[in-house]
Amino acid sequence: MKKALHQVKETTMGGRTFSLRMEEEDLGDIYPGMVRFSVELWEKENLVTVFRTNSFEYAPTMTYGAREAAERVFTRWERDLAGDMQCFLDGVPEREPVTHQPSSGSPDVVVIQGSPRPGGNCSILASWVAGEAQRLGKDVHVVYPHDLDIHPCIGCYQCYNTGTCVYADDMNSIIPAVERCRLLVVCTPVYTNTVPAGTKALLDRFQSLHASRTLDRRPFHRTRGLLLSVAGRKGPENFTCVSRVIGAFFSLVGIGAEEPVFIDGMDETRDIRVIPGLETRVRGAVGAALQKD
Ligand SMILES: Cc1cc2nc3c(=O)[nH]c(=O)nc-3n(C[C@H](O)[C@H](O)[C@H](O)COP(=O)(O)O)c2cc1C
Repeated sequence: MKKALHQVKETTMGGRTFSLRMEEEDLGDIYPGMVRFSVELWEKENLVTVFRTNSFEYAPTMTYGAREAAERVFTRWERDLAGDMQCFLDGVPEREPVTHQPSSGSPDVVVIQGSPRPGGNCSILASWVAGEAQRLGKDVHVVYPHDLDIHPCIGCYQCYNTGTCVYADDMNSIIPAVERCRLLVVCTPVYTNTVPAGTKALLDRFQSLHASRTLDRRPFHRTRGLLLSVAGRKGPENFTCVSRVIGAFFSLVGIGAEEPVFIDGMDETRDIRVIPGLETRVRGAVGAALQKD
């Protein structure tokens, strides 16, 4: 149900009459607590432009939420209405993309932050892992598959001719880092019961590591693997597929799996930082894995 929050009375400019309104809509029947805000600019009965935002867009680490974002847009448009209307017709400039450097060198710990959502729950998990590893004096690299250049595997099997992939991209530095590290931590959300697409692309490309190792008869290092996963829905069954996917990946590249940590019910909880004892548990799992030979 829609609820009107703010309304600006009709303003006439150059013979045209506009009105501005902001509305709140309860979408709790879709996801628990979800609220959508709309800021609408009307010219008589015609909708000129609309800005929409919902409470699920905002990651736990963001300093404001949907209501404040909508209010900011409302205030800005209100000011524009009183001044220059041209901005509504010119369109919005494109955002600068955020990029992260691919991994390089030989870190002790590699963390794959598998969520495309910056500042979300996997990002928080990755920061706990990196913090703990650094506290223990280890070198850490965090890899963000969704910000990197990773071509999906095309199944050409040419890596079994030469030991290298036909694609030269950011995997060129990720594969050696993973091969040499002591601990690989995969932090992934559950997307349609499995891992997000960018993360899956990264995992599939490790086929070339399997190819080069088996062709060279290169011994496997004693790398340990730790899976940390978050799901929106409640129940252990939501991690069945992710466990199998990551399990298959660990076994393909000869990584010994640690006991995974699964965090369910995030559609309701939203922010893993409010879960009592979770940070200590994650840090403990990292410490325990690093103690093993
Ligand atoms: C495209 C998409 C698909 C999702 N699919 C599932 C799913 O199949 N099962 C589930 O329990 N949660 C699902 N979720 C919810 C996410 O696992 C949950 O919001 C998680 O906290 C996101 O992690 P992040 O905070 O690190 O981005 C999905 C979310 C998105 C955006």
